Amino acid sequence: MSNTSPDKTDASSDEEALDVAIDEPVPETKHLVRSGEDLSFNFVAYDEKITILGASGSGKSYLANAIMKSLNGVSVWVYDFNAQFSSSRALMYHDLDEMLKVYDDAKRGHFILQPFDNSDETFTKFCAEAFKRGNLVLILDEVHNFCTKQSMQKEYRKLILSGRPRGISVISISSRPSSLPNHVLSNSKHVFAFRLHLESDLRYLASYMGDDVWILQPPDKRLKHKDEPALEPYTFYYRDMDTDVGQIGKV
Ligand SMILES: Nc1ncnc2c1ncn2[C@@H]1O[C@H](COP(=O)(O)OP(=O)(O)O)[C@@H](O)[C@H]1O
Ligand SMILES: [Mg+2]
Repeated sequence: MSNTSPDKTDASSDEEALDVAIDEPVPETKHLVRSGEDLSFNFVAYDEKITILGASGSGKSYLANAIMKSLNGVSVWVYDFNAQFSSSRALMYHDLDEMLKVYDDAKRGHFILQPFDNSDETFTKFCAEAFKRGNLVLILDEVHNFCTKQSMQKEYRKLILSGRPRGISVISISSRPSSLPNHVLSNSKHVFAFRLHLESDLRYLASYMGDDVWILQPPDKRLKHKDEPALEPYTFYYRDMDTDVGQIGKV
């Protein structure tokens, strides 16, 4: 991965760009164009949203960690539910109040919260405090612990629906696409999906992104694209939702 993100505190500007390169050869597929070329992933920090989906152990947190590390000069807060993030440049906390104290002095940097208290209250407060401050990229890991298809904490919803004018980007990570509130996907410009097993998850994702996502299942389980090869480990399907075609890639 490489990154061309300069520092930025003005939410109205949109010059942030993050380029992710594919390191390895990608599987051949007939319907996904541009496979084998560099992934065209240009993320505008403090503006756009990302959703990362996939089964447990498929590579979601690893990708999000790589995205965080590439965001030089951009303030990032990570809600690290399962202690999966690390970076020599990030400050690590287990108590949100302590993290806020240091952030409010520094007003910039990469902050990882691995909460001792992984409760709804901590997650809610994390979202609310981020909203108050603005100009942040938030990485929210394992959000399926805090929402269902029908219900979503209002502080999280506020970030998704009203965060953009405050310069807030949200990167939402979940292993259960079908239990993700519709708002999350429909407001994400960038969607990464790793291997998935449940037909209900694939059906939901296909209804939103098209039938190419069936390649995320093992070939014998797919309802469509059964002839396409199985995806290599840690491979994702990426879609910029402003375009019609997806790409296959790997960090
Ligand atoms: N692209 C990759 N290359 C090498 N190892 C990876 C890659 N992606 C994930 N891993 C490893 O696989 C394991 C599971 O990845 P992780 O991102 O934690 O999965 P998830 O967050 O989807 O549960 C971790 O040990 C991680 O280091
Ligand atoms: Mg994870």
